[in-house]
Amino acid sequence: MSQSAVYAPSPEFVQNALVKGMEGYRALYDRAAEQPEQFWGELAEKELVWDEKWSQVCEWNPPFAKWFTGGKLNAAYNCLDRHLATPRKNKIAILWEGEPGDQRLISYQELHRLVCRFANVLKSRGLTTGDRAIIYMPMIPELPVAMLACARLGIIHSVVFGGFSAEALKARIRDLGASVVVTADGGWRRAKEVKLKPAVDEALTECPGVKNVIVYRRTGGEITMQDGRDHWWHDLDADEGISDFCPAVPVDSEHPLYVLYTSGTTGQPKGILHTTAGYLLQTMMTMKWVFDLKEEDTYWCSADIGWVTGHSYVVYGPLAAGATSVMYEGAPDTPAVDRWWRLIEKHRVSIFYTSPTAIRSLIRQGEQWPDKHDLSSLRLLGSVGEPINPAAWEWYYRVIGKNRCPIVDTWWQTETGAIMISAMPGAIPLKPGSGTLPLPGISMDVVDMDGNPAGTDKEGFLVIRKPWPAMIRTIWGDPDRYQQQYWSRMPGVYFSGDAARRDSDGYFWVLGRVDDVMNVSGHRLSTMEVESALVHHPAVAEAAVVAKPHEITGQAVCCFVTLKQGYTDHQALGAELRKWVAHEIGAFARPEEIRFTDALPKTRSGKIMRRLLREIVTTHTVTGDVTTLEDLSVVARLSAQREE
Ligand code: WT7
Repeated sequence: MSQSAVYAPSPEFVQNALVKGMEGYRALYDRAAEQPEQFWGELAEKELVWDEKWSQVCEWNPPFAKWFTGGKLNAAYNCLDRHLATPRKNKIAILWEGEPGDQRLISYQELHRLVCRFANVLKSRGLTTGDRAIIYMPMIPELPVAMLACARLGIIHSVVFGGFSAEALKARIRDLGASVVVTADGGWRRAKEVKLKPAVDEALTECPGVKNVIVYRRTGGEITMQDGRDHWWHDLDADEGISDFCPAVPVDSEHPLYVLYTSGTTGQPKGILHTTAGYLLQTMMTMKWVFDLKEEDTYWCSADIGWVTGHSYVVYGPLAAGATSVMYEGAPDTPAVDRWWRLIEKHRVSIFYTSPTAIRSLIRQGEQWPDKHDLSSLRLLGSVGEPINPAAWEWYYRVIGKNRCPIVDTWWQTETGAIMISAMPGAIPLKPGSGTLPLPGISMDVVDMDGNPAGTDKEGFLVIRKPWPAMIRTIWGDPDRYQQQYWSRMPGVYFSGDAARRDSDGYFWVLGRVDDVMNVSGHRLSTMEVESALVHHPAVAEAAVVAKPHEITGQAVCCFVTLKQGYTDHQALGAELRKWVAHEIGAFARPEEIRFTDALPKTRSGKIMRRLLREIVTTHTVTGDVTTLEDLSVVARLSAQREE
């Protein structure tokens, strides 16, 4: 395992790279480690535009960090206005393609105009700094426009991925206390209209705080509008009072920029809070360090903006760095499975950032599809979302990168806000399956149960030892949960929830989650969330959910279900429960498998032993200590069930 292949960057790549060779990396890393305040302070001064300079770089009262306190700035200003005084004003900021093939090339100047107009629309509805907005939209330019318009006014946004159900949307609207929802009639996926507005209508039956719904017309499909509450985007925009300019409101460095909900280990999603200055600085710096961004690059991160990858690496990072960011609305296989390769060829994409799960499903389509296209514009590839298996890595490197594009495998989380572990492609030799080394200013370690360094090649917990600029500030409305979730295992140390090991070169190998968080197609989902959805169904008595390995999606959802008296297990009920979960959470959470059982394996104290269920679905045998089990025969029956 440690004898993996090593890929050094080519001399041409090194020559043109921002950071050259291991010496370049080491110098930067060491300086940041020795003088973190100076390091981040200098970057903040040089890379961001401030309305008022900060007085302190970092205030650290574990587990609460504040960065650049006393400073004032605006995120939208830093993503847009500052470029308008430069030749970038006519550069394409967002290069968008809709699934039906419609296309929009939006310059920085034009994006600025759209954002200003929509900020004025929000203002005209009485919204102001500190208010909360939910954004529930397809992958169309108006999604980043809405985010940036919020940021321009200091309105805290929370984007809800369009694949989430009305139930999930409702929970987020309520937790955030949002007063406005920005949405669309629907979007296009696999040549069909996917409606969004009906889910908003359903969610809002129990959200009295929402006074305004603003609806962008994307598909033209039939929807209902509620008088007084719902407004068409284009109607509000057509008002004479809406001008092309709206001043950006200077906010404190620590003013909340957005809340993004993600799955924790309970049924209740957590609202991860990111603030303004530190987040913007680290997403922007990582655009340069990790993607080695050049003025002429055409950069495409294929993530949906509904996830953190899209926030940081489709919107805020690329725009702050002045990049051309590609956005695509639809499915990768529409009209055919080479849609992505077509996009890369057509727009001459030079940097492509996607997930292992996407790579694996593209591998399955065969090399003939990428081979039909001229992919020679590519110079750098990226991976994110889960550990990439070496076979997928090699394919990506050979078939897509033609053996000349470095692959940056980037480890980070919704909570970290920005990339933490990644190769700097001109500096660090690659090993397929390893994220390589932490970025400058980032202090990562692998530790044992007691918090001591685990030692070479020893598996342990992946932790972060020092605060970083883009870090989570708290869980919205629940600072105790924040403290307990991330900072209670080892005092003063951030617990990521991942297992990892370091090899003799100090390279990090992330092994996956150690908690009850599943990773399905790079999307985070908690076992508890699915369990609580299942037990809401009238037929279900108890449910235990575990992740099972899956060839394409990495993990798949596998549910063990016991039924209430009077219900019998049959295929139709299985199908119904799968549909039920998709309805309660969202289609991406639909279980792969429902297994009915007359009992779940429990300890004498009544705790479900998920470990055993995990073993049953992975290795089909049960090992280790089972002496705490109340009824051993349950396990025997469950293992036997599979052999049928
Ligand atoms: C979890 C975070 C932020 C990216 C999108 C997912 C896993 C992410 C990698 C990687 C190994 C990775 C971890 C992490 N993960 N990237 N390059 N190598 N594992 O964000 O939903 O917050 O999930 O994704 O397990 O904890 P997320």
